[in-house]
Amino acid sequence: MNNLIMNNLIIKNASQVVTCSGNKGKHGKEMSELHVIDNGTVIVTNGIITHVLKQGETIPVNEEYYEVIHAQDKALLPGFVDPHTHFIFGGYREEEFSWRMRGDSYMSIMNRGGGIINTTKATREATDEELFELGKQRLNEMLKLGITTVEGKSGYGLNMDTELKQLRVMKHLNQTHSMDVVSTFMGAHAVPPEWKDREDAFIDFNINEMFPIIAKEGLAECVDIFCEKNVFTHSANPRRYLTAARNHGFKLKIHADEMVSFGGAELAAELKVLSADHLLQASDEGIRAIAQNSVIATLLPLTAFSLREEYARGREMIDNNCIVALATDLNPGSCFSASSPLLFALACIYMHLSVEEAVTAFTINSAAAIDRADSIGSIDVGKQGDLILLQFPSYKFLPYHVGMNIVNTVIKKGNIIINN
Ligand code: NIG
Ligand code: FE
Repeated sequence: MNNLIMNNLIIKNASQVVTCSGNKGKHGKEMSELHVIDNGTVIVTNGIITHVLKQGETIPVNEEYYEVIHAQDKALLPGFVDPHTHFIFGGYREEEFSWRMRGDSYMSIMNRGGGIINTTKATREATDEELFELGKQRLNEMLKLGITTVEGKSGYGLNMDTELKQLRVMKHLNQTHSMDVVSTFMGAHAVPPEWKDREDAFIDFNINEMFPIIAKEGLAECVDIFCEKNVFTHSANPRRYLTAARNHGFKLKIHADEMVSFGGAELAAELKVLSADHLLQASDEGIRAIAQNSVIATLLPLTAFSLREEYARGREMIDNNCIVALATDLNPGSCFSASSPLLFALACIYMHLSVEEAVTAFTINSAAAIDRADSIGSIDVGKQGDLILLQFPSYKFLPYHVGMNIVNTVIKKGNIIINN
């Protein structure tokens, strides 16, 4: 490609420009408004959106310096933002899936040494190069599905070496891959065998030894914890772990109320964390508290589906004025999927979100869940030129064409990186 037109792109006459306009997470009713421009044109200059034009407005730049896409009959959206994944891991757990289908629960498999600990063994054994290569392949697949920014968590090392290995691999991928990767340190994902029955001491290890190194090396932006019965159980531990993380400058996330109602949403609200994730079993009080404290409720329908659990109460959360985001939760255990098409279908069919709410939840609100709502997640002047074109004229096809990938073109910082 000619140097002059790198990162310069005009997308002309898209049947819909679904702007999702805004620069912060949207609460409740605001999630229904997508600010669609019919037959609009978007211009990206040097990787940044510089113009969002209505039908008939003249193009105020010299087209010679731009690549041009004629987008009639295609809807243009912001690239999807996936704010919760565990995409760096060694090994697989296909046997556990079969056991679950036979009736075993996720927690019973974990309690007998499978689950996260199983993946931890395989991730400790994997080399940096292997993890990098696997990570690259997974990011490639996600890009094809329209995801242009992804959050990734560590938490399959549970010791110094492997946690740092996972975080360094993600940093390297962020530097070399088209995908933007936002890293989260999740040292408190499970208590590993060498710390068995010493949960307090393991939390101390994370606070005193892991946080300072990760902060110093700039290896993670956020810190997360699996706050769950029989995982991090002693209620004081999540509180002091997260408080210490905040003191090191990390943003906070919680895996909350996934399997049992455990006060996770309430704790998220008390600490005013950035996002509380899962929330399948969140209490009414917890839902009201996160709404009032603007904690983003990040819901993971693919996980509920894969675990055959009840879905989080997305409809009620929105009706209670929550900021709801969606994420895939790609990981080798509870949800080995990053299927954005299935995510839309499940969010609408089973969580009772409207199509508009689901689109908001996987663009501007999911950008807010990783504190990026000022730079991605909508088609607004000044934002990064991360865009997707659908092969249909309306965003309404996203859940309707159930489970099918309708992403035609993926644009990252004004460059076409996928053209199906
Ligand atoms: O988000 N629940 C904890 N963490 C992951 C699952 C991790 C695993 O099973 O490997 C989740 O569901
Ligand atoms: Fe998770």
